[in-house]
Amino acid sequence: MMAKSRVAVIGSGDVGKSLADGFLKYGHEVMRASRDPSKLDDWKSASGKRAATGTFEEAARWGELVVLAVKGTAAESAVDLCGPQNLAGKIVIDATNPIAAEPPDHCVLKFFTSYADSLMERLQHRAPSAHFVKAFSCVGNALMVNPDFGGNKPSMFICGNDDAAKKQVTAILDEFGWETEDMGSMEAARAIEPLCILWCIPGFARNDWSHAFKLLKR
Ligand SMILES: NC(=O)c1ccc[n+]([C@@H]2O[C@H](COP(=O)([O-])OP(=O)(O)OC[C@H]3O[C@@H](n4cnc5c(N)ncnc54)[C@H](OP(=O)(O)O)[C@@H]3O)[C@@H](O)[C@H]2O)c1
Repeated sequence: MMAKSRVAVIGSGDVGKSLADGFLKYGHEVMRASRDPSKLDDWKSASGKRAATGTFEEAARWGELVVLAVKGTAAESAVDLCGPQNLAGKIVIDATNPIAAEPPDHCVLKFFTSYADSLMERLQHRAPSAHFVKAFSCVGNALMVNPDFGGNKPSMFICGNDDAAKKQVTAILDEFGWETEDMGSMEAARAIEPLCILWCIPGFARNDWSHAFKLLKR
């Protein structure tokens, strides 16, 4: 179990909501952020005393742990809006995916990154003193917190350069009902981020969004 902390969730979309609600469920304080915080007023009034809202910068400064859940094409500028100095020394859980603006091709999403690059590496370079950990990127938001697969725990693939940060994120994933598979340093995001392309294919092809990955081992 993770110590109770102040969690900044940068994101007014579905992922921001699912993860913010998950952190509230486990007793943390949450500030959810938008460039226009007023659009989160309803969420705030429905979410109790431990829920607050703010700008990206306010939330990043306030949070002890930061969750980045913004549109992939805007993620680098979102880090700039947070202020790299406000992220220094903090864990940043990166749930983003580098989905390009073009539509999917035969149900296969297009990315704006290449196989020799990843969005998380770009973000880590943008805020070099932050401890980025890729997590939650390979599953739909409805399944991010305590997904029910009939007693089977799905696998969450994580990576990042800071071992202590990955240990803390593993504790969060334990609470949220996941088995954690640590794939190593930030370069592994080149392999983790494309899992989102695979995850979305059954959704686009036959409106099936209710699956998660499991790494079988023996
Ligand atoms: N949806 C899913 O189930 C799912 C699952 C796994 C991973 N992901 C990834 O998680 C991230 C969030 O997804 P989402 O579906 O919750 O919402 P989204 O629509 O992809 O992102 C919404 C957020 O992006 C911010 N944003 C958009 N344009 C921006 C810009 N030009 N500059 C700064 N910020 C900007 C918005 O800020 P404002 O509040 O200021 O408008 C908002 O907070 C994405 O990278 C997505 O690929 C999504």
